[in-house]
Amino acid sequence: MDESSPRFLEIFFEIFESLPRQGPGNLASARKALRLCKNLPETPEILDLGCGTGSQALQLVELTQGSILAVDIHAPSIEKLNQKLTQLGLMERIRSQVGDMRELALAESSFDLIWSEGAFYNIGIQQALSISAGLLRKGGYLVFSDAVWCKANLPDAVKAIFESDYPAMGSVADLVALIERSPFELLDHFPLPPEAWWDDFYTPMERLVEESRGKYANDPEALAILEQVALEPAAHRINSDYYNYEFFMTRLSK
Ligand SMILES: C[S@@+](CC[C@H](N)C(=O)[O-])C[C@H]1O[C@@H](n2cnc3c(N)ncnc32)[C@H](O)[C@@H]1O
Repeated sequence: MDESSPRFLEIFFEIFESLPRQGPGNLASARKALRLCKNLPETPEILDLGCGTGSQALQLVELTQGSILAVDIHAPSIEKLNQKLTQLGLMERIRSQVGDMRELALAESSFDLIWSEGAFYNIGIQQALSISAGLLRKGGYLVFSDAVWCKANLPDAVKAIFESDYPAMGSVADLVALIERSPFELLDHFPLPPEAWWDDFYTPMERLVEESRGKYANDPEALAILEQVALEPAAHRINSDYYNYEFFMTRLSK
């Protein structure tokens, strides 16, 4: 079924937004990335771009003493985050906003750290670097993760996995070259470990798909959509040598 059809999106988001996070990553990797941001102020102003339902914003509350503005273009994700913030009593530490990271009405040079996991590909890394440079104070940090190809000769079936969502996907070297041509200094980068794809993302996705098969047992259209959703983790199980997510730690130097 067409992935932009209302029924597909309804069932896809029902699953996607119930996951602990909406892309690969984990607390250990976030902690490792944050260690590189050595000169953050004690209570940094942090902006989480493409925050989904807030997994990383909630991690940043644990890992820093800062205050966080979490932004996502998809209103229902922000609604879910707001429910969590109310339950956890974290409204003082995390503010949320529905918004497009390309047109945020935020003051220039007002953040010490911009964090973005698996979201910059939506607007292109070059534009994301430029927007982030405007929003960060001089010496501020930009930490982001992005999907990268790990091999040069890609089978068509593997290329097809990312073709519609991320046709411009490149290698680590391509992203390093983009960062080197930007106002950011590259501090370091590292690949996500395999468990960062599974523990909080694909394993719960497969479990939820399975549960939903029971819920929609008499609904052939929904069952077909669930089959389609299940293809992504299944493809990753077979093809994970060809692509990964890379974390980049950078600092605004110019
Ligand atoms: C792969 S998900 C990652 C979400 C979250 N960072 C995580 O890892 O759990 C990408 C997110 O980017 C958001 N997004 C896409 N385009 C956006 C834009 N132009 N501005 C803000 N958020 C955007 C999507 O709504 C989605 O929540």
